[in-house]
Amino acid sequence: MSDDSGETSHSLWGGRFAAKPADLMRRINASIDVDRRLAAEDIAGSRAHAAMLAQTGVIEAADGAAIQEGLNRIEDEIQRGAFLFREELEDIHMNVEARLAELIGPAAGRLHTARSRNDQVALDFRLWTREACGRAAGGLRELQRALLRRAETEADTLMPGFTHLQPAQPVTFGHHLMAYVEMFGRDSGRFEDARSRMNECPLGAAALAGTAFPIDRSMTAKTLGFERPTANSLDSVSARDFALEALSAATICATHLSRLAEELVIWTSPAFGFVKLTDAFTTGSSIMPQKRNPDAAELIRAKVGRILGALTSLTVVMKGLPLAYGKDMQEDKAPTFEAFDDLELSVAAMTGMIDDLQPVRERMAAAAGDGFSTATDMADWLVRALGVPFREAHHLTGRAVARAEALNCGLADLSLAELQSIDSRFNADVYAVLSVAASAASRASYGGTAPSQVRAQIARWKEML
Ligand code: ARG
Repeated sequence: MSDDSGETSHSLWGGRFAAKPADLMRRINASIDVDRRLAAEDIAGSRAHAAMLAQTGVIEAADGAAIQEGLNRIEDEIQRGAFLFREELEDIHMNVEARLAELIGPAAGRLHTARSRNDQVALDFRLWTREACGRAAGGLRELQRALLRRAETEADTLMPGFTHLQPAQPVTFGHHLMAYVEMFGRDSGRFEDARSRMNECPLGAAALAGTAFPIDRSMTAKTLGFERPTANSLDSVSARDFALEALSAATICATHLSRLAEELVIWTSPAFGFVKLTDAFTTGSSIMPQKRNPDAAELIRAKVGRILGALTSLTVVMKGLPLAYGKDMQEDKAPTFEAFDDLELSVAAMTGMIDDLQPVRERMAAAAGDGFSTATDMADWLVRALGVPFREAHHLTGRAVARAEALNCGLADLSLAELQSIDSRFNADVYAVLSVAASAASRASYGGTAPSQVRAQIARWKEML
């Protein structure tokens, strides 16, 4: 088995082999460096399987007990870092089984009755992905809570709302943050949906066709916290769409994270100066002493590349694979593990930055009036107060903007005489709608930026979280 053992073939599948695999075969075949991460899932699956085999009388109760005892010891060895993972045993499944044989002797050989590595790996990976989806949803709820806390203190803070990154209409910072609460809420919903769809147990499908042993698949499904056993044995060992779905949810979530990260990069740039990050979430430059760089935000902005890469990678692995299991599918785990590691770190770092950031309210409020951001309010006033058709109101306001631009002042700084030279129907009431605070407060339609609406949405989310 190992190079110096003198054995000629593999102890767990070598019956029909006379010689051991080439070193290169062994290297390309081994997945233990990656799938050792499934040790806990593998042991949980084996425990449930052995208990079911003993319960149904497929194996003797004494063998079942010896297997449980051995699995407990292996779990302990792994936790203590005392377990020796061996490449020549290929993967986590055979590493555990080989160690079990060392610990309890021949009874270990009964564990694999009515089971195959194909349904075993399908189970382990599903258990891992199910847990990862739960963790991702939980992390997102923490991020939502951090955003909610901020939105609450910034419900009245005025800032420019942008389209095309050009000043559009004033909004509140609280409203802007609540937009991300909505996005991350949908993201965590996607993880929960994926989790509930994947919550069926493939164990018992065996190699691909099911088994002739009188097993109880509902029992193992229940023990492992699944809703039910999977209903088609071929599908059970072939399906990886649960991981694709989880990675799709992760990719969409990563795009949301990258958008917020990009906004933090923009807002912390001195040219904007809307928010500051403290020493905790910035780094300096080795040459430019004045620098304070938002590296965490930039890295979160970039992580979507890796996460989408994982989705792309697994999609291409699965495309065109004939049923049932193919070794190609061993390539499913590394990208999925990495993507979820990256996602979890990104969500946690984003939560840290949201808690850390210091809004510069005066800067935001001053910028909120830039770019004639209350022009729409003037046009709306012409419609409401004077009954001017909106298209005409738009045109008249455009002329007022051009005039203000020529005079290098804001719309509210134009004298009434100036306005009346554009249209004699203007009166002094118009000034009431031209301040940024009035503009934001007026947008009290459901889901609008008015502080009253923002507070209503905060209250709704607090209830839900
Ligand atoms: N290491 C394998 C994987 O991750 C386990 C299943 C192997 N099955 C087999 N028939 N060779 O996919």
